[in-house]
Amino acid sequence: DKKKRIFSGIQPSGELTLGSYMGAIRNWVDLQDEYECIYCIVDMHAITVRQDPALLRKRSINQLAQYIACGLDPAKNIMFIQSHVPQHAELGWILGCYTQFGELSRMTQFKQKSQQHQSNITAGLFTYPALMAADILLYQADMVPVGADQKQHVELTRDIAQRFNGLYSDTFTLPDPFIPKMGARVMSLGNPENKMSKSDPDGCVFLMDKPEDIRRKFKRAVTDSDMSVTFDRENKAGVSNLLTIYCAATGKTLEAAEAEFAGQGYGVFKPAVAEAVVETLRPIREESERLMKDKAYLESVYRDGAQKAQYLATKTLSKVQRKIGF
Ligand code: ADP
Ligand code: NA
Repeated sequence: DKKKRIFSGIQPSGELTLGSYMGAIRNWVDLQDEYECIYCIVDMHAITVRQDPALLRKRSINQLAQYIACGLDPAKNIMFIQSHVPQHAELGWILGCYTQFGELSRMTQFKQKSQQHQSNITAGLFTYPALMAADILLYQADMVPVGADQKQHVELTRDIAQRFNGLYSDTFTLPDPFIPKMGARVMSLGNPENKMSKSDPDGCVFLMDKPEDIRRKFKRAVTDSDMSVTFDRENKAGVSNLLTIYCAATGKTLEAAEAEFAGQGYGVFKPAVAEAVVETLRPIREESERLMKDKAYLESVYRDGAQKAQYLATKTLSKVQRKIGF
């Protein structure tokens, strides 16, 4: 029977992080055989806050190189850059006309981001969820792997799809948010109460960090004065985060990791976590560096991806246009 379809995207608004790898991209690699996957580099979402143009273009292409280096196979997945497929903008506009101002006002991510960017709260930042709905619905995706922070947007996507289907006739597949069970939640090394994020470079390990940077960042990672390597998110957030990272990097269970460091201090534990991360990221960084130099290859991948995406997107958009009277 037909494979289920998955859509997901990451904004090229910064460098990919250890969090995005352990929480998302690594899971995508596991999904690529069982599902038909569409992985998009969402540069149109990135411009909802101001970006440096040259850097944005470079990051979009580097992100593709890094996806491939992480193990995403361009022959198995559709991988492309959002702005290369104009159907996203077209359907995004249309769906904005089927989305209520009140619904958009309730999005917690808008509330947060508009706090962070008070001097530049654009209409794009506000209507972002309508574009995200278009991203997903254009491909009739069955599932959208998301972090908890994006779940509300997928629910809104379902509401918009259901509304449109109800007004006209069945047009869109209703997508389900899909929170993969394996996905590790990686916290900031400097402030383990917060998610590791590209917007907090101090507490963040990037996929392209050199081994010496990784070692330095883990050396400075916040722990506690208790000295025992045990998992307790509430009382030992820093150590618990390091254990999570160690297990995600080595494939060991929490119990095995706790046993391994029993009776040893953080002076042994922290460098061991750093080394595990260095070895996890080394092949990814080396392959990314090689691919980032091969501009012709990357161009062939994103052109081919955009062509395949457009084929699917056009089918959906034509149906929509016909139904609404274009
Ligand atoms: P965007 O800017 O496109 O919203 P992010 O870079 O914040 O994306 O995240 C990309 C993906 O990686 C999302 O699926 C998100 O849930 C996941 N992710 C990001 N940071 C972490 C983290 N610290 N721990 C686990 N997953 C993360
Ligand atoms: Na995010």
